[in-house]
Formats: sequence, C-alpha cells, structure tokens
Amino acid sequence: MDKLKIAVLGMGYVGLTSGMAFAKHGFKSICTTTTLSKAENLNKGIPPFYEPGLEELVREMVGNGILSGSTDNVDAVRQSDITFICVGTPSLPAGLADLSAIEATASDIGVALKDVDCYHVVVAKSTIPPGTTENLILPTVEKYSGKKAGVDFGLCMNPEFLRQGEAVHDSLNPDRIVIGEYDKRSGDIVEYVYRDYDCPKMRCDIKAAELIKYAANSLLATKISFANEFSRICEKFNVDVYEVMRGVGLDFRINPRFLRAGCGFGGSCFPKDVNAIVALAKSIGVETPLLDSVLYTNELQPMHFVELIKDAVGTLDGKVISFLGLSFKPNTDDTRATRALPIIEKLYEEGARVKAYDPKAMEKFKRLTDLPVEYCENWEEALRGADLAVVQSDWREIRDIKAKDFKRLLNSPIVVDGRRTYDPKSMISEGVKYYGIGWRNLKT
Ligand SMILES: NC(=O)c1ccc[n+]([C@@H]2O[C@H](COP(=O)([O-])OP(=O)(O)OC[C@H]3O[C@@H](n4cnc5c(N)ncnc54)[C@H](O)[C@@H]3O)[C@@H](O)[C@H]2O)c1
Repeated sequence: MDKLKIAVLGMGYVGLTSGMAFAKHGFKSICTTTTLSKAENLNKGIPPFYEPGLEELVREMVGNGILSGSTDNVDAVRQSDITFICVGTPSLPAGLADLSAIEATASDIGVALKDVDCYHVVVAKSTIPPGTTENLILPTVEKYSGKKAGVDFGLCMNPEFLRQGEAVHDSLNPDRIVIGEYDKRSGDIVEYVYRDYDCPKMRCDIKAAELIKYAANSLLATKISFANEFSRICEKFNVDVYEVMRGVGLDFRINPRFLRAGCGFGGSCFPKDVNAIVALAKSIGVETPLLDSVLYTNELQPMHFVELIKDAVGTLDGKVISFLGLSFKPNTDDTRATRALPIIEKLYEEGARVKAYDPKAMEKFKRLTDLPVEYCENWEEALRGADLAVVQSDWREIRDIKAKDFKRLLNSPIVVDGRRTYDPKSMISEGVKYYGIGWRNLKT
C-alpha cells in the first residue's frame, strides 16, 4: 500500500490542507477545483486562500512533485487509489445542506471508475447530513461506474475537525481521526493513510461518522452561546464573565475552551452546520429547542455588541468608528458569516461611519457589502481621527495595539472590545475608556 495515490476533490480550506498533509506523509496527492486559475496557481505553489504556514508547505510539496492541482476530477481519480471528497456543502435558503457539489463529484468519480480495474476507496470528508454517503454518494458512484460498492470500490466517511486559522497544525496533528466504514476493507485502507498520525483513531458506522461532525460543531457552538448568554447576565451584575467562565472551565468535566464570550460565532461551519442539523431534524419531526436557542443567542449577540457601543458613546449618529477585524476570527481571510457584517450594517443604520482594517480579509469583506466602508491600509490609519475603536476579531497585530496608540490616534480613547482582546484593567489604568462583552460596563 506504500505507493497509494490520493485524489482530493475540492481545494478549499479542508481539501488543500488535507492534500498538503497527505503529501507531507509521502502520498502523491492531486487537489482539484472548478477554477482553472486556482489550479494553475497551486502548481506554482500559491494557495487560493490565506492560512498561516500553508504557503511554505504547499510550495515545498509542489516543488517536490508530490502535490499538484487540477481541474479534472475524472483524471485525478483515475490516477489515484483513494479519493477524498472535500467540496463545499453550503446552506440552502431553508438551512439544509446543499449537496449539489457532492453529487457532482460522486458522478465524476463514477465516470472515472468505469474504466478502472483496480479497487478504489471513495471517502467523504465534507460535512454531510447522515445518510448522504450511503444514499447519495454510493448510488451515484455505482450508477456512473457500473461497479458495486463493497466489491469494486470501498466507501468511508472521514469527517474533518480542523480549525481555520490553525488548519496546517490541525491537519498535521489532529486530536482524533474518525473513520466511518462501509466495510472493513475500506476502513483498513483509510486507517493506513493515517497510520503515522499520533492520535486516537475511531472506526464506526458511516452514519455515526456523519453525525459525529454535526454533534461536535453543535456542542462547540452551544458552549459559545452559553458563554454569550452569561455575558449579558454578568454585565447586569457588573461581574466579569471571563472570571466566571474561568471558574466554570476549571471543572474537568467542562474544560475552559470555547467559553470565551464575544460578539457571536461566524465562519463557514458553526452557523451552517447547526442550521443544517436543526432543519434536518425538524424535517423528520424532531424538535431541537436547545439548538434553536443556540442560533437565536448567536443572532442577539452582535446587536448586543452594538448596544454596548451606544453605551460607550451615546448616539451613533455622525460618529466615526474605527472597526478592527473583519474576518470571522483571527488568522484567516474567511469572512463567511462573519459577525462584522451585521454589526457594520447596524452601525450604518444608526448613522455612523466606519473606517475598517483587517490584516487579510478586506478583499473578501468588500464583496459582502456595498456600504461605503472606508478600508484602511493599517490599524494606525483606521484609528486616526475616529471617535472610538471597536474590535471584532482579535488578530495578533490588533492585540498588540497599546493604550498609548488609542490615546494618540483616536479623538477620544474609547475602545469597545468584542473579543476580550485586551486586559480591561490595564487599558483602564492607562487611561482608555474600556467597554467589552461581559465586562463590568455599568456606570457606577
Ligand atoms: N472550513 C473549515 O474549517 C471546515 C472544517 C471542517 C469541515 N469542513 C467542511 O468541509 C467541506 C469543505 O469546506 P471548505 O471550507 O474547505 O470549503 P471551501 O468553500 O473553502 O472549498 C470548497 C472547494 O470545493 C471546490 N469545488 C466545488 N465543486 C467542485 C467540483 N465539482 N469539483 C471539484 N472541486 C469543487 C471549490 O472550488 C472549492 O475549492 C464543507 O463540507 C465544510 O463544512 C470545513
């Protein structure tokens, strides 16, 4: 099995980092995309998005001839022994997952396998609703290949758990690998691909693997909404929610991660996946009051943040706001479902003007809105002459801004912190008027 070759269909955050990690483990890997320029750039060592450390590794793997890009799914599958499906599964208007790219790639795999005599393993890595691997991918591959699952080709579901912003680290050092298998032979081959990864490996039923991903994201989103709900309670008691959650997280049954209150979760996974499982559950007659509230809380939080901004400056009408961080979280250029959008929309609705800065996400954010946001070259330009600063994603560069910079550049040194970017006590002691989610904002 040493010479196994891998096709990775989809060259996004999951596909490319997975392809890079497989290549790093010695498997010749081809990543595909529907966009020719992305494939051409990958073959020059240039990834189609920003992720810390990715470009260096991609350049190295492409240079070694072990990683390449293509727009030809059929050819990539034909050249390979295993295919990982990593295409997007965005939300449809009603919240359910759009599986059209999954179906398209499954039919390409079927076409490719029609003329191939070797056993091939098809692995779904995208986040897909329970039943998709067996009820959509399997029959589509069988239909277009004329071959039989479990005989001519194998089938697995191997959910991905990487965190954007840490995708390189996580794809090389996952904390667990889940392999849902159609049969033992398929599972053995996928486990072989991961043989050098030092983490627990769990083999299970395919539908269980599909659901593990939704359950994991739903629980993480629940922790965030829980901390956010408590942030509003804490504010009314003039208590610091971070102190409260630190005490909560010290319980080994809970752990402190994802208890950081902020202006809500965004990105391409939590909102999409929680919406998808809620819509799916409702469509089969299962009520989801807990997850409904998780989503509702997440919609409240950006508006609560705007209320906090109003508390800080009174009316927003005519105010110039320096807006720091447009991506949904630091270390990524991804702006899908970023909380920056509803916040900025509300700020304009209330008559404010926004000067924005983000280290990597400004181009993607510009495509989300026609509002006359003034995009700045750097944080200094964004702060200069503004009436206050608000922080929406806590990039390192933004965390490094000092109280003296706010005092030097803003009209008045007011900071409204949506991510607990700064230590409130030191900001206050250095003369900044600090407001933050879940901080002691009450005027006494
Ligand atoms: N982004 C994350 O942090 C993350 C983490 C875990 C799981 N996931 C899941 O993994 C999947 C992919 O997510 P992503 O963030 O990488 O998506 P993405 O939007 O960044 O990338 C999707 C890729 O699929 C390609 N594509 C679409 N149709 C195609 C086709 N027919 N043939 C070949 N390529 C095609 C696109 O060109 C794009 O490169 C989703 O189901 C997502 O929910 C994402």
